[in-house]
Amino acid sequence: MSMEGMATPVAPPRRPGAPAPAPTHFKGDFLVRARQIVSLYPEPRSALIPLCHLAQEKDGWLTPEAMADIAGLVGVTPGEVLGTASFYDMLHTEPVGTYLVSVCTNIACLLGGAQELLEHVEEHLGVGVGGTTSDGSITLEEAECLADCNRVPCVQVNHRYVGAQTPGSFEQLVADLRAGTRSADIPTHGTLIRVRRTVGIEADPADVAAERAAEAEARAGREGLSAGKGGGA
Ligand code: FES
Repeated sequence: MSMEGMATPVAPPRRPGAPAPAPTHFKGDFLVRARQIVSLYPEPRSALIPLCHLAQEKDGWLTPEAMADIAGLVGVTPGEVLGTASFYDMLHTEPVGTYLVSVCTNIACLLGGAQELLEHVEEHLGVGVGGTTSDGSITLEEAECLADCNRVPCVQVNHRYVGAQTPGSFEQLVADLRAGTRSADIPTHGTLIRVRRTVGIEADPADVAAERAAEAEARAGREGLSAGKGGGA
């Protein structure tokens, strides 16, 4: 699929100091999660990449509407979101299928038959790397190390590990995906992941506030110290 013909996100003209437009694409739980993510960072723009991952969890790729919402949430322009996101392979700025299949061909997987698997996958799906099947169900990508080197060749579907794959097991996996029988462990886009790390968003807000207050106090102390030194010179 191509973004040809799609509107490139354009920064709406906004006067300095004017409030950011309300999000229109992030809604419900996704908007709650987005605001939680922003609140984790002293500077909202530090949440740009995490919000891009959240948008991908929602849509599978970064839609212009999602980029506009991210821009408003972190105080940058949609163009800056696109400029940042397009730098990273893991962030998709073009549409992907219902399932994004990532085949690692880095060294450990390569030695474990990744190239042969990838060639079989391309033949079985009828698309090359970067392509999407005609039914829109699967987009294929070739990935760098996915950090699961002890189960090679490593494959992920929608960023979930599916273990080492053989040509035969991959064909079964595709059949299961298309039949919808893997929806419990490989949800489609638009499903917030249920298991999350136990720091960050899950950190006690009181701890976050206390750490920020301590940091602000330390910073004020440093600034006061340096102002005192400057005054005495
Ligand atoms: S080299 Fe493939 S997961 Fe590490």
